[in-house]
Amino acid sequence: MKRKAAEAALAYVKPGMVLGLGTGSTARFFLEGVSRLVREGVDLKGVPTSFATADAAKELGIPLTSLEERPSVDLCVDGADEVDPKLDLIKGLGGALFREKIVAAASKRFIVIVDASKLVPRLGTKAPVPVEVHPFGWKAAAAALEGLGATVELRRRDSETVRTDNGNNLLDARFGPIKAPSKLATRIAAIPGVVGHGLFLGMADAVLVASDEGVRTLRPTRTS
Ligand code: A5P
Repeated sequence: MKRKAAEAALAYVKPGMVLGLGTGSTARFFLEGVSRLVREGVDLKGVPTSFATADAAKELGIPLTSLEERPSVDLCVDGADEVDPKLDLIKGLGGALFREKIVAAASKRFIVIVDASKLVPRLGTKAPVPVEVHPFGWKAAAAALEGLGATVELRRRDSETVRTDNGNNLLDARFGPIKAPSKLATRIAAIPGVVGHGLFLGMADAVLVASDEGVRTLRPTRTS
């Protein structure tokens, strides 16, 4: 399913584009498709959203550039952990939310690729909101998130504290179904030490959802 969604996103790729390259298992399939196009001679460059994606892109022969060199990205394609009916997202279970948000925001078009299991009636239904915090005082940030109603866990792998590509900690803040994501996003962003959070609101231009029936394209209904 993830591969199907990723393949569908290739239809948006045009010669000469600078592509934002997302992070995660779904984005990895997109990278493989981009690599195929590059091998066929299509002129493309990628801005990676993580060290892992940069490594994968190099392995796959995708030419890379940076936001310093190319501050305006034509198209960013990335996965997500949850998608709600407004096409607001939770991202960051893979830990790359900070760079993912910067690259998506710098892109003319942001296309999200998911399988149908990522669709939820409300953000927070299944996933926590990943929050990247500076290691100095992370516990105070965790307490502030608890004050907003979350159950908070410091992300660890094999009992080691996970460090992001930016050298920060990750807090997984479980709120349950979130009634007002934009209010919550403002409150989380206002906590001292918070570097970024995984609520991606009003950012997706389209979500490609793969299921047994094929790939559906969802577009946001924006009022302005
Ligand atoms: C990485 O930080 C995340 O935002 C990923 O995009 C998200 O976790 C989706 O990952 P999968 O495609 O592996 O499900």
